[in-house]
Amino acid sequence: MNIAVAQSGGPTCAINASLVGVFSEAIKSPEIDAVFGSINGIEGIIKDDLVNLRQIIKTNEDMELLRQTPSTVLGSCRYKLPEIDEDSSVYERILNCLEKHRIGAFFYIGGNDSMDTVAKLSDFIEQKGSDIKVIGVPKTIDNDLPETDHTPGFGSAAKYVAATVQEIIRDSSVYSIESVTIIEIMGRHAGWLTASTCVLRANDEIAPHLIYLPESPFTEEKFLEDVREMMAKHKALIIAVSEGVRLKRDMDKPRVIDNFGHEYLSGIGKTLEQIIKESIGCKVRSVELNVMQRCSSHICSKTDIDEAVSIGAAGVRAALSGETGKMMSFRRISHVPYVIDIVSVDAHLTANKEKFFPSKWINSAQNDISPDAIKYFLPLIQGEVKIAMKNGMPVHYKIRS
Ligand code: F6P
Repeated sequence: MNIAVAQSGGPTCAINASLVGVFSEAIKSPEIDAVFGSINGIEGIIKDDLVNLRQIIKTNEDMELLRQTPSTVLGSCRYKLPEIDEDSSVYERILNCLEKHRIGAFFYIGGNDSMDTVAKLSDFIEQKGSDIKVIGVPKTIDNDLPETDHTPGFGSAAKYVAATVQEIIRDSSVYSIESVTIIEIMGRHAGWLTASTCVLRANDEIAPHLIYLPESPFTEEKFLEDVREMMAKHKALIIAVSEGVRLKRDMDKPRVIDNFGHEYLSGIGKTLEQIIKESIGCKVRSVELNVMQRCSSHICSKTDIDEAVSIGAAGVRAALSGETGKMMSFRRISHVPYVIDIVSVDAHLTANKEKFFPSKWINSAQNDISPDAIKYFLPLIQGEVKIAMKNGMPVHYKIRS
């Protein structure tokens, strides 16, 4: 049989590493002939836009470069499949494409929305009595997928965010005047990435002095109170805020949403900067890490990249042993030494669901993270990948210009 693999959702440093995991395991497996890559996620299967990866990824050097290249080499999508009983025509097109190319297993590397595709598609294929397997390989910098200890992509994003916040701390503390620097961090409705800035305390940094997550209630009044209290203690105040934190005054503003109904977020840092400017009047700056935190492979976590390869490969083994409608998942066995294993879980349990940052790790004032969380985060950011460089810049693998 042949197999197909696709990448979906927002970019990370580790999605191509999972693609390498699927590809390298497939080429080792005598049951598998061609490995097709679907362009732009499930859209490529719907449009029959596939590339033969065996003709593209030819050498170990290609594989190594792809492994360390951020984002999605095959492109991505935010495509939501309709309910099967509402409109089955798109499912028929998918099945036709899979059958036409003798695809016996389809691997979808993505987050909670992509697991919706895995769950629906595997249900449809089963209803049709077909034997094609559908397996989800998790990824997202948000770390908000249920049923897995963590998600590939998160560790690298957390490592970049911590390193960048540390540089901002150094930068912001040079003057004798009081200042506030607000750093806006991605993560939609879940504050994992913002919370992970607490790892800096393992290296004796005190900042960020305030950390705000979307999981906690947030008001302008309480925020200003916190800032005033902290400014009395720290000359250069550093605040980490999740993009998902909402102010009451912004609730009625027009929203732009994607196909899964998620709002395109950004701007809370600027709003808070304005509030401080108006109410406190000190030097204040906001930094939005924005997309830089998703593709910062020059400081990715080796643990993250290695695990992303392993979980992709485990997906292939699961399909070959007859599993379908599953998402591969990490189970943490211990923090120190860090030990995980890879299991499979029902994709229906993760589809469209979000795992929030645990309230037990948020302080009672709802503006900081407890030291217990550091134990969870630290193993995920360990190790460095030796990045290939050319002319002083990282080299990225590309299949389409
Ligand atoms: O994939 C998750 C994520 O990276 C979120 O943290 C962010 O809010 C969202 O994607 C942005 O989506 P898009 O890439 O569609 O702008």
